[in-house]
Amino acid sequence: MRTIDWVDGCPLIIDQTLLPDDVHFISLSTVEEVVTAIRRLAVRGAPALGVAGAMGVALAARLGGDVDDAVRRIRSARPTAVNLAWGVDRAAAHLAEGPAAVLAEALAIRDAELIASHEMGRRGADLLQELAGERMRILTHCNTGGLATVEYGTALAAVRSLHERGGLAEVLVSETRPLLQGARLTTWELRESGVAHRLIADSAGPYLMAQGLVDAVVLGADRICANGDVVNKIGTYAHALGAQAAGIPFVVVAPESTVDCETKSGADVDIEDRDANELSGFGGRRTAPSGTVTLNPAFDVTPHTLVTAIVTDTRVIRIDRGDRP
Ligand code: MRU
Repeated sequence: MRTIDWVDGCPLIIDQTLLPDDVHFISLSTVEEVVTAIRRLAVRGAPALGVAGAMGVALAARLGGDVDDAVRRIRSARPTAVNLAWGVDRAAAHLAEGPAAVLAEALAIRDAELIASHEMGRRGADLLQELAGERMRILTHCNTGGLATVEYGTALAAVRSLHERGGLAEVLVSETRPLLQGARLTTWELRESGVAHRLIADSAGPYLMAQGLVDAVVLGADRICANGDVVNKIGTYAHALGAQAAGIPFVVVAPESTVDCETKSGADVDIEDRDANELSGFGGRRTAPSGTVTLNPAFDVTPHTLVTAIVTDTRVIRIDRGDRP
């Protein structure tokens, strides 16, 4: 089952907002539908956004009209994950050759991400076995599985690969407030794969690490900067501080498409600020007093000084040994 694919001339996605209760596919038949699906996180996760962006441009090229405007709107639908702009730019570079060439590029990106996931799984599991030994207990954050890619995942690919090798004891899944990608999506994927896991509150992570219940923190990235700073889902930085305090490895798994050497450090990244409703209510019900002012960054920056290693589909970057992307 692919999170995103190209079917009957349109991107076809699983609507991730309906998981875990409903597995519902939607076909995105206009540029507006692509932009809205990206904004409301029906399709999400950095590698999947790269594919969605490229397929959005392929759709715009097929439909005709003001394609430049469509490219601009898709590219700016979300600002933080570098993959979105990267996928859009790669596809848009073929616009002069016609719609078929744009689609061919989008499908090439899809296929490359599929291969990349399996490479990250293998390399990530190898590194974790080297760093943290046998029967590991891993803490992960947000969702980095098949739902965040095309299939299989990034950090969750490494976790699955470890599980297939018999090297995993359990995964602690942090719920990932406010949109619960961990609680709704990662638990669903781990359950489908038969991987032992327990759900924890985000704020429990550093405490559980201090209690000796975690051997390594393994998660993904939305952008990896030239100096090794990692931009990822809000809550990542707290887990990194917890890992440092507990003396356990903090490993980031992401494809090369997430490495952005044009951006010097995390300070240069546009962090998406999301709607107040995501914080001031829960499950469609208001929980904070009406009118409460919120501050809702969707991502944070983990400085490279807290990162042990970054695993991509082609290499392992030992940040702790001074390597840089
Ligand atoms: O807001 P989201 O759900 O798109 O955020 C996703 C993340 O932060 C993931 O950790 C990241 O994209 C890596 S996905 C393989």
